[in-house]
Formats: sequence, C-alpha cells, structure tokens
Amino acid sequence: MQPRVTTTSLIKMKQERKKITALTAYDHPFATLVDRAGIDMILVGDSLGMVVQGKTTTLPVTMDEMVYHTSMVSRACKRAMVVGDMPFMSYQSSVDMAVENAGRFIKEADASAVKLEGGADVCRVIEAISKAGIPVQAHIGLTPQSVHQMGGFKVQRDEERLLSDALKVQDAGAFSVVLEGIPSDIAGTITARLEIPTIGIGAGPLCDGQILVIHDMLGLHDRHLPKFVRQFADLKTHALKGLEAYRDEVRNQSFPSKEHEYK
Ligand code: KIV
Repeated sequence: MQPRVTTTSLIKMKQERKKITALTAYDHPFATLVDRAGIDMILVGDSLGMVVQGKTTTLPVTMDEMVYHTSMVSRACKRAMVVGDMPFMSYQSSVDMAVENAGRFIKEADASAVKLEGGADVCRVIEAISKAGIPVQAHIGLTPQSVHQMGGFKVQRDEERLLSDALKVQDAGAFSVVLEGIPSDIAGTITARLEIPTIGIGAGPLCDGQILVIHDMLGLHDRHLPKFVRQFADLKTHALKGLEAYRDEVRNQSFPSKEHEYK
C-alpha cells in the first residue's frame, strides 16, 4: 500500500518541484475513483452547495452537511490527503467556534486537514486551529464565501495585498494555500516567495499544484464553465446514453431478460 499524502510530503513535493494534484469530491464513489487515480489531495469543498445541491452560491452550506460529505470521502481514501472545507459562518464569528468546528472535521469525519477562506483577517483563526494540532489550508484571491463583498465572482488583481495575505497566512501556520482567480504572474510571484505549497484554481501554471471541481472537469453538469476549466471527460453524455437505453429496454421489454431472472 502506498503511504498517505501528508503535510510534510506536500512540502517535500514543492521542494522537489513535483506538481501536486488535487480535486474536489463529495461522496464515496467519486472519492474512490479520485484516490485510485493517484490524485494527491481531495478537498471536500463547500462548492458542493453549487454542484451537488444546485444552489447559486456556497453560502447556505452547513457544518453538518460538510461533516456528512467529508466522512463519506474519508472512508474511500487510502492514499490521498482529505481536506474538509469550513463553510460560511463556521469560523468567522469567534476563534473558539472555529477551533470547535475544525475539530469536528477531524473527530467526526476523519479528515486530515481543514481549509478556510481569507488572508490577514483570518490569521488568528489559522493560528488557533493549527495550535490545536489541525493542519489548515488557507484560500486567498477569489474567495467565493465573500461573493457579495467582492460584487460577484471576480478575478482579484491587487498584487500587494495578495502577496501580503499569502505571507501572513504562512506565518500564521497554514501548511498550504489555495490561490483562486488571480493572474498567473502574481500567482508565480507568490509561489516563489512562499515555503508552503500553493494550489491554484484559475491562477495559471506557476503554482505548486492545481485543483479543479470534479463536476466541472468530468463534464457532469450543464452550468457555465469558468475560463480556467478544461473538461477532461464528458460523463453527462455517457450517463444520459445509459439512462435512455434503460428507459427504452424497459419499455420494449428487452430488460430484464433471462439472465437477470431468479429461478
Ligand atoms: O469549495 C471548493 O471546491 C473550493 C475549491 C474550488 C478550491 O474551495
């Protein structure tokens, strides 16, 4: 059996310039496939609000839902590191509440780390959760939980602020940082300045690793795909073909046939 991916092995990958692969997953069957494919990190993202629950933002997702989905993913993973995404209002109102909720991902859902959004403004929280022995992945740039404050899902271009946020979350104890929706050259500068790995989404090729939302990259839905997504498969079309074949065969009575009957 291959050894588990850990915070230490991810930092070693950065030092050895080996690209880190990451994807989201939200349930046991998909997490099994992602783990089997040798992806290093699985984020149980609060993007599940949009791609699984069909909502327009990630904001309504609750802690109980995140714990439920993360535990399904953890049960499937043998090698990949499982990161639980802290949902909106699970870490913003107090440091104590943040530590308690981060602890739920570890105790109840068997994750090995948590992720939360924000830069300088969440450093106290990152520090407290890390001190409790829970690895924290930071997330800066386009942070979907602040969609209303940002005035939409917009690319973030303030280089000085992005670099300062990245350095501050590293100092606060983050083991890694997601860079979302920022120009490639800024992501390159941040990646070169940090000792911890950067995982990019819409942040260009210079990050230490890449993450995508699995429903986007496998072609599982009809929603608009952001510019940074490549669709690596078209599962929706395959699934639809199978479903239509089932419909037709039940209607024309060619299913079930002899081999599916009990005697
Ligand atoms: O919720 C999520 O899936 C994320 C990734 C897009 C980084 O935060």
